[in-house]
Amino acid sequence: MYLIAPSILSADFARLGEEVTRVLAAGADWIHFDVMDNHFVPNLSIGPAVAAALKSYLGRPQGGRALLDVHLMVQPVDALVESFAAAGADLISFHPEASLHVDRTLQLIRTAGCKTGLAFNPATPLEVLEYVIDKVDLVLVMSVNPGFGGQSFLDAALLKLERARRLIDASGRDIRLEVDGGIKIGNIQRAAAAGADTFVAGSAIFGCADYQAVIEAMRYELRRLAPASRVA
Ligand code: DX5
Ligand code: ZN
Repeated sequence: MYLIAPSILSADFARLGEEVTRVLAAGADWIHFDVMDNHFVPNLSIGPAVAAALKSYLGRPQGGRALLDVHLMVQPVDALVESFAAAGADLISFHPEASLHVDRTLQLIRTAGCKTGLAFNPATPLEVLEYVIDKVDLVLVMSVNPGFGGQSFLDAALLKLERARRLIDASGRDIRLEVDGGIKIGNIQRAAAAGADTFVAGSAIFGCADYQAVIEAMRYELRRLAPASRVA
C-alpha cells in the first residue's frame, strides 16, 4: 500500500497545527517532521517541543491518528531520540553517518517504543543495511541533499531505490521504502516504479493552495502504475 507523507517543513510555521489538520483532511497518510540542527545539515528547523504541540492535531477525519514520521538530520543522534519518543514520535529515522554506533542507536529507538528508520544521503551507500536490516522498519532514500525543501529530484536516487527494494525483499521483513526530496506529481510514478512505497512531499503539497488536489493527483499517478492491491 502506497503512503503519502507531507513534509511540514514547507507548511506555514505560524499555523502549524491548522496545517496538519488541513493536510490530513486532504488525505495525507503520515506527517513527515524534518529536524535540522545547523550542524549535520546547514539549516535549523523544529524540535521535540513542536512535535509534542502537534500531537493533538494528528487525528484523522475518518478516525484514528496519523503516524508522526520524524526525520532526524542531526548529529549526534541519541539524546534527541529520547526527546522525540517522549514527544510522541511513532517512527524515528536518522542518518548512519551521524551516529558513531548505528546498531546501538537503532536499539535505542526501539527501546523508546518507536519504529526505526535509516536515512541515506545521495552519496551514501546502502552497505550498512546489510548488517542491521533486522533492526530497521523503514529505509529512507534521500533524493536531494538534506537541509532544504523545494530542491530538484536527483535521478541517481532511482538506482538506489531499486537496490534498497532488492535488499528489503531479500530480507523478507516488513520494511517500508520511503523516498524524500523533490517528489512531485510528475515524478512520483518513477519513484514507485523503482521500488518506493512511501512518498515524502513538502513543497509540492504545501506550495499549492489545494492540498487535496495534489494528493489525489499523486494517488492517480500511483494507481496508473500499480496493481490495485498496492494502491492506498
Ligand atoms: C529535506 C527534507 C525533506 C524536504 C522535502 O532535507 O528531508 O523532507 O522537506 O521537501 P520537498 O518535497 O520540497 O523536496
Ligand atoms: Zn525529510
